[in-house]
Amino acid sequence: MKVLILGSGGREHALAWAVARSPRVAQIVCAPGNGGMAQIARCVPIDLKDLAAVVRLAESERPGLTIVGPELPLSLGVVDSLRERGLRVFGPTRAAAMLETSKGFAKQFLQRHNIPTPNYAVCASAAEVAKAVEVFHPPIVVKADGLAAGKGVIICPSRHIAVEAAGGLFSGSLLGAAEHQVVIEEFLKGDEISFLCLSDGNHVTPLLPSQDHKRVGEGDTGPNTGGMGVYSTDSLLDAHMSEWILRHIAEPAIRGMAGEGTPFAGVLYCGLMITARGPQVLEFNARFGDPEAQAILVRLESDLVDALNACVEGRLAETTLRWNAGASVCVVASSGGYPGAYKTGFPITGLPAAAQVPGVQIFHAGTTLAGGQSLTAGGRVLGVTAAADSLELALGRAYQAMAEIHFDGMYYRRDIGHRALKQTQ
Ligand code: AMP
Ligand code: GLY
Repeated sequence: MKVLILGSGGREHALAWAVARSPRVAQIVCAPGNGGMAQIARCVPIDLKDLAAVVRLAESERPGLTIVGPELPLSLGVVDSLRERGLRVFGPTRAAAMLETSKGFAKQFLQRHNIPTPNYAVCASAAEVAKAVEVFHPPIVVKADGLAAGKGVIICPSRHIAVEAAGGLFSGSLLGAAEHQVVIEEFLKGDEISFLCLSDGNHVTPLLPSQDHKRVGEGDTGPNTGGMGVYSTDSLLDAHMSEWILRHIAEPAIRGMAGEGTPFAGVLYCGLMITARGPQVLEFNARFGDPEAQAILVRLESDLVDALNACVEGRLAETTLRWNAGASVCVVASSGGYPGAYKTGFPITGLPAAAQVPGVQIFHAGTTLAGGQSLTAGGRVLGVTAAADSLELALGRAYQAMAEIHFDGMYYRRDIGHRALKQTQ
């Protein structure tokens, strides 16, 4: 079978790596792909914002399965367009992806289906925000309604600042594009968990839970990023808590979407805060997380293509996923300056030595290949991923591999998974 993977980040490299392990797969095409994916697949340059170009590519390649990595093409309706042309594609339709593409829609959906989530108000003007914040206690969370690549959430220490931040979202001065509505939300304290599930529109199969490190700096300081590292262990959630999240969050969400006539097939990423009053949904994403996918997929023993096919064909209930026991971690090496401005084009050295460390997979996130040499080409450059019997061992392997790698301005957090390590000691 030929598989087409849309995207160019670490998540898509991990997907391509997992797909390549399937005996069913004869050929992998990545669009646009990156320097790492180019070593295991054929990469075709494309602008994923150009839906017509993506459709043309899929029609000419006729893949047996298309996997959509990032949210942007989902928001444009790539799944709907490919399906209309008789192509098999893994991912939610444009209507189902609204769980990610409109935070206002997601919050109202959560409320309709009694799924636990922080108190909120959806506001269409600064005047509505000024009125709504009166009943919230600072800090107050202000969220852009639409996709914002991790930049749409502002934690405000006062009502006044919340109104100002919302004003910046409405005018477009904060994100570039003007928002039509914003979400005001109660601030919650607790541990964040990324709880990802596969769904075929009816059935739900959870993937292993993981924990992301969103802030750029060690000790969870500095601005939010797409994710600087993630780990997954067997003890991250106990069986009782996982079951509770499945029954009270993931399954009602999938049932709710089916009941509203917009069934959700694909990966439902539940971004949860585990609070004193139980797990609460902070956000939904309609795709694999990045770098969550890297840490999760290195622990998957089952054939990924079989599982994704089962989602596309509505037979997920017949499929069980097998996982490697133990732990995994993905540490992101980023360009100096990220998530702000950064330079690219620097040669990356040490990759072959790093790949020799047992249990390590190096996933490329922002790289290109020029005459056999990997060059930096993005904010997040590499996801150094390791699996082992314990988190401590996995971290040891990932950081040993990281020590072999070099590029100008290279930065990574040295404390990924450390909070969990302390709790188990
Ligand atoms: P989101 O894109 O909604 O997941 O928000 C990005 C990040 O902002 C989350 O991963 C949290 O760290 C933080 N955040 C979002 N909503 C809340 C909330 N209600 N309370 C506390 N932190 C939040
Ligand atoms: N790592 C967070 C995300 O993929 O949204």
